Amino acid sequence: MTQALHDRLPPGGSVREPPYRSIMELSPEERAELNEKLGGAQNYNPVILRELARKDHKYLAPLIMSILSAEFRGVDFFGRFVVDTQAYDVPWHMTLAFARQTFDEARHTHLNIGILEHLGSEVGEYPDIILGPQRDDEIPEEELDPAVLMARINVALEGFALTTFEGTRALAEEIGEDLVERCHDYNMADEVTHVTIGDYWLERLCEDQPWRKERAKAVQEEFDKMMAMVREMALQYAGSAAAGNGDTNGSTADGNSHD
Ligand SMILES: [Fe+2]
Ligand SMILES: [Fe+2]
Repeated sequence: MTQALHDRLPPGGSVREPPYRSIMELSPEERAELNEKLGGAQNYNPVILRELARKDHKYLAPLIMSILSAEFRGVDFFGRFVVDTQAYDVPWHMTLAFARQTFDEARHTHLNIGILEHLGSEVGEYPDIILGPQRDDEIPEEELDPAVLMARINVALEGFALTTFEGTRALAEEIGEDLVERCHDYNMADEVTHVTIGDYWLERLCEDQPWRKERAKAVQEEFDKMMAMVREMALQYAGSAAAGNGDTNGSTADGNSHD
């Protein structure tokens, strides 16, 4: 009998070359270098970097790396999701949809690696932004339900990614970075599909087991609150950093975390 994918591929095998390295893992010298490049490690945030890049193109490379970091995590997460859904009673076409999404995320990493190199940087120059639970974190069983994961990742986080890409595309258009503009327009088209895949399958899974509906709604509300806080903090910071040039009004597209 064929062995289940889940048994053939135990969790925790995500590797990348160069290896993942978060801000927390930088040496004091590397941290000082990052502070020097960005005017403080707290600026290593896509919302703030987008504001800074509006004035100075040198902030585009760290902005792209912060996005690329999320794309790598997307490959890991959705690849794992495809493997793990075998353990749940989900429709085969749902697994296929997530296999396609994993392929898209892999393509996005290539796209953004290309942009990064075009901007004179490379993977490893800037640290990775850590999203979601870490490898060794204990995740409660209920959180591993495919509908709950989908509510958090596909509907909420992908929705946030969508607004981030649109903001980046609009910024690139404004400052005349054609390659970034075109690539992010393309990237965004895939993300629209990813949000739709999440919406569609979440509804289907909730039809099968109605308890999921309430739980998924709570997860999305929790996510919306958290992102609103992050945006608020970032914009406040960007506002004070850009004080004097009066250019923060209406400058981001992050109005909603999903749509
Ligand atoms: Fe992506
Ligand atoms: Fe995506």
